[in-house]
Amino acid sequence: MKDRTADYQRTNREFWDDDADDYQAAHQEQLARPGRWGVWGTPESELGVIGNVDGLTVLELGCGAAQHTIGVASAAARRVGLDLSRAQLRHAVANLERAGLRTPVVCASGVATPFKDESFDLVFCDHGAMSFCDPYDTVPEVARLLRPGGRLVFNLSTLFRLVCFPIGDPDAPISDRLHSPYFGARMFDWGDGTIDFQLTHGEWIRLFHAHGFEIEDLIEIQAPADASTSYEYADVEWARRWPTEEVWKVRRGKRASG
Ligand SMILES: C[S@@+](CC[C@H](N)C(=O)[O-])C[C@H]1O[C@@H](n2cnc3c(N)ncnc32)[C@H](O)[C@@H]1O
Repeated sequence: MKDRTADYQRTNREFWDDDADDYQAAHQEQLARPGRWGVWGTPESELGVIGNVDGLTVLELGCGAAQHTIGVASAAARRVGLDLSRAQLRHAVANLERAGLRTPVVCASGVATPFKDESFDLVFCDHGAMSFCDPYDTVPEVARLLRPGGRLVFNLSTLFRLVCFPIGDPDAPISDRLHSPYFGARMFDWGDGTIDFQLTHGEWIRLFHAHGFEIEDLIEIQAPADASTSYEYADVEWARRWPTEEVWKVRRGKRASG
């Protein structure tokens, strides 16, 4: 049997290339709402993690169809969308054109981007490359891409959510039991879907510090009582009690990383 994890980037690229059209059709309405984060559509106006982008050069790392660039970064001086999947990028090009935004898109992996050192003021994503790549590869790459004082902001599924899914049964609902270990988790293979990554909070903190980042915030999102979503794996009752998503906001220090 094919080892899906040995070349996880290829596994994820093949998944997203195959799934892009269905995914966009299923979630188009939810994703098109401007300035909303994640499966619960949490407003940027509530989180305030991107803020003012006037004059900034920004990169969406794993942009999919670029709805988040359009929603939170249309006022940036320069925008770039990067994604590993050509099929997703075809949707991005169409959406950016419809929005009237001149924004180049680049087909590459978030772990090895074709940009020069210190090219960006802000790197961000919403369930993008920070969810589907090994953080031990993306964090140093983002540290390289950011100018001193630049920010990395990203939303991803919590480790709580990932360990509460019955592994090996991709269609099972999320449970209130722990199904896989917390320690040493790092890579999650759902069998026939994507390969996802997460770390413990302690591991994230040590990784950010090792690459010269200061941590400004970590927001664990609680779903509102009236929340709805097009993501069928998400369960609002569960997400009222435990966080399904977390947003990290970290800043590259003024000095070179260690
Ligand atoms: C859930 S979408 C995120 C885009 C958008 N925010 C959304 O929620 O639809 C995940 C995206 O990450 C991309 N992706 C997966 N692995 C990647 C990698 N190694 N480098 C860059 N992008 C990657 C996928 O192709 C996909 O477009």
